Amino acid sequence: MQTNSQRFLVQPSTRVEGSLRVPGDKSISHRALMLGAIAAGTSHITGFLPGEDCLATLAALRSLGIEIHQRDATTIDVVGQGMHGLVQASHGLDMGNSGTAMRLFMGLLAAQPFASALTGDESLGKRPMERVAKPLRQMGADVQTLNGLPPVRIRGGAGLRGIRFEMPVASAQVKSAVLLAGLYAAGETTVTEPAVTRDHTERMLTRLGYPVRRAGPSVTVAGGGNLSAARIDVPGDLSSAAFMVLAGCLATSGELVIEGVGLNPSRTGILRILQMMAARLRVEMAIDDGGEPVGRVVIAPSRLRGIEIPTELVPLAIDEFPVIFVAAALAEGETVIRGAEELRHKESDRIRVMADGLRALGVDVVELPDGARIRGGQLRGGVIDSGGDHRVAMSFAVGASRALGPVKILNTANVATSYPGFVTQARGIGLDIEAGPDE
Ligand code: S3P
Repeated sequence: MQTNSQRFLVQPSTRVEGSLRVPGDKSISHRALMLGAIAAGTSHITGFLPGEDCLATLAALRSLGIEIHQRDATTIDVVGQGMHGLVQASHGLDMGNSGTAMRLFMGLLAAQPFASALTGDESLGKRPMERVAKPLRQMGADVQTLNGLPPVRIRGGAGLRGIRFEMPVASAQVKSAVLLAGLYAAGETTVTEPAVTRDHTERMLTRLGYPVRRAGPSVTVAGGGNLSAARIDVPGDLSSAAFMVLAGCLATSGELVIEGVGLNPSRTGILRILQMMAARLRVEMAIDDGGEPVGRVVIAPSRLRGIEIPTELVPLAIDEFPVIFVAAALAEGETVIRGAEELRHKESDRIRVMADGLRALGVDVVELPDGARIRGGQLRGGVIDSGGDHRVAMSFAVGASRALGPVKILNTANVATSYPGFVTQARGIGLDIEAGPDE
């Protein structure tokens, strides 16, 4: 388990109110940089997420010869060099904590005429990469993992051919990697997914003028096309908003409004699940001007009820299960999560880390191979370890505000990978969270 010396200290609180905008969407920020880099012309990105994960992608693209001007933390110009403008990096590319960066770069770099090496931190070093390497090899790429894990070595220089790939796991990262390689392959590349996953790559390709064909669960690109630079407005990240939505539901008074948040239907599983749990939340769609639906979410104090989570919603809420575990722990009755084995392959084994943390706070949790049974009730005060997982740390921070006593959450530094400013925003709406070094 990764350790770092930051911690949160959370005191109980009851009122949550105000209006906020959460930082930009992580998935879309990665894609804006990568696709902007291989487009012709300069793409202007607003609302970029300046979290460590996306900054790893930014630094890697600079190492690959791309000029990127960061006008301020969230406003970026990427000087695209066209489909064939990347150059070999002089050193290995460090993906930090980011699975998205590593897997999407695998697809992009497998198609380049030069060699690349991709490394990451301790958590990323335990995450499966063969799910991407295998289809890339079928396309003709030379990609090596270390017993299935990072570091990843790509020889480059292989002419790729299009494939029809039936994805065994529902993964937007795998789908995106194969599609990125497909942009450079001879003929058509078709990816068929076993369940709907986020479609930001497809939407952004379309936005930048690359033809993408969708038919039911399949998406097809033909190699040899071109991308044109565009203005990309990144909406707020619903996965970050989810912590605040949970805070609004768990409060006993006040009302919370989250503005300008992405509401792509391949991401809104969390809102549907919380609504099924009797959350009092309202979604108001605004105009969809950049290929991504955006709107606001209004949340009122709620009495949550336990439910059986429909398995078809799992991929649509895959990053929000730490939030759902906490919601379940504070709901009335039992919640059952199944069909979510993928959670064991995220920044931590989220089933185990969430079950351990909830048990440490007195909750009755039965861990299952692909989920958990959680008996709702109360949280008591105590000390838990986030396992260095940003979403686990933030979910517990919000849940802890409704605990019977203070809660200390260890290993919280990685919150900066996805949600810079989390503590400030959480305090701003009424939570009593203090961040500091763990002495
Ligand atoms: C992401 C896809 C998801 C998600 C991750 C971001 C993406 O992973 O968990 O945080 O940007 O494509 P999988 O597609 O592997 O499930």
